[in-house]
Amino acid sequence: MSKRKYLKQYKWSNVFAMMRGGGKELKECTDDFKGHLVVITGATSGIGYITVREYASRGANLLVINRNEEKSIALCEEIRQEFQVECDYKIADFSRLSEVRKVGRELLESDLDIDVLIHNAGIYSTKKIITEDDNELVFQVDYLGSFVLNYMLRDKLKARGKARIIFVNSEGHRFAVWGIGLHDPKYEKRRHSGLGSYGVAKTAQLLSMIKFTEYFEGSGVTINAMHPGNVKTNTGSNNGRIYRWYKRNLVDRISKDPQISATALYYLGVSEDMEGISGKFFNLTKEEEPAPPALDREVAEELWHKSIEMAGLE
Ligand SMILES: NC(=O)c1ccc[n+]([C@@H]2O[C@H](COP(=O)([O-])OP(=O)(O)OC[C@H]3O[C@@H](n4cnc5c(N)ncnc54)[C@H](OP(=O)(O)O)[C@@H]3O)[C@@H](O)[C@H]2O)c1
Repeated sequence: MSKRKYLKQYKWSNVFAMMRGGGKELKECTDDFKGHLVVITGATSGIGYITVREYASRGANLLVINRNEEKSIALCEEIRQEFQVECDYKIADFSRLSEVRKVGRELLESDLDIDVLIHNAGIYSTKKIITEDDNELVFQVDYLGSFVLNYMLRDKLKARGKARIIFVNSEGHRFAVWGIGLHDPKYEKRRHSGLGSYGVAKTAQLLSMIKFTEYFEGSGVTINAMHPGNVKTNTGSNNGRIYRWYKRNLVDRISKDPQISATALYYLGVSEDMEGISGKFFNLTKEEEPAPPALDREVAEELWHKSIEMAGLE
């Protein structure tokens, strides 16, 4: 049974690496990125917002994919004015897959050449919520949304032969200690928890990376995942009063400035050191081994087919 299989595979070194964090060894890239196109999801706050500013300050043009039009207009105006680069936006609420597929189609049909694609949009929910697509919300927003865009754009990216895809993942993937439980994606037979569902979604994203890495091998397109540090953002603000109190008074007090996440995302997206590196998980800029359930090739295969079905792609 898979639970026992994973237990045997766990190493203390994984856990210590997570506790140490990657902050002390944060690598920086000082190259500019003039004229290159960076596409990023969830850029209206937190890590996404600071990352957009980081790339724009080095001359990159931005295409942001957000759920809120008003915030997107304000963001693009700010970026254009402050950094004199191009900034455009597309709207997709990841809790509605039809909107993500629509943006995927538009990108596919456009003549835009994507240099860096950052999948950042994500939420943490203490409550179990089922979307209109009949999926658990966190699984859909934190995983399926990124799967849809990657899957739809895979041939286009491969044909161009030059792009870096980055998942803003999490050390929280380690909360899916027993694996992703693909037999019960809506938590009908097992207990739902905020940490558990977050861990499952992030682990699913790492499993999809195994398949995408194989797909892009030798093409010039790389795909990696990263933990952005424990940083102070709006994450979790959709939850109830008790969680928000806990976040404000405990989590936020020990959280770092999201500039470290942006510095790491710039390094991973631009640095020559990252040329040809694919299929890896980084804690900021330090490579780490993911937890055993995120390395399970058999489940990765099963998830790939199930994701196509769940995302309404074929
Ligand atoms: N903060 C941390 O310490 C930490 C640690 C590990 C991993 N992460 C990951 O980092 C990523 C960014 O999170 P953050 O900490 O920067 O949180 P944040 O400040 O809440 O930003 C999340 C972004 O995702 C967008 N988003 C949320 N739900 C969406 C939906 N249904 N459709 C489209 N976009 C949606 C938000 O849009 P709105 O502005 O409209 O809400 C916002 O732009 C997430 O994937 C998170 O899991 C964060």
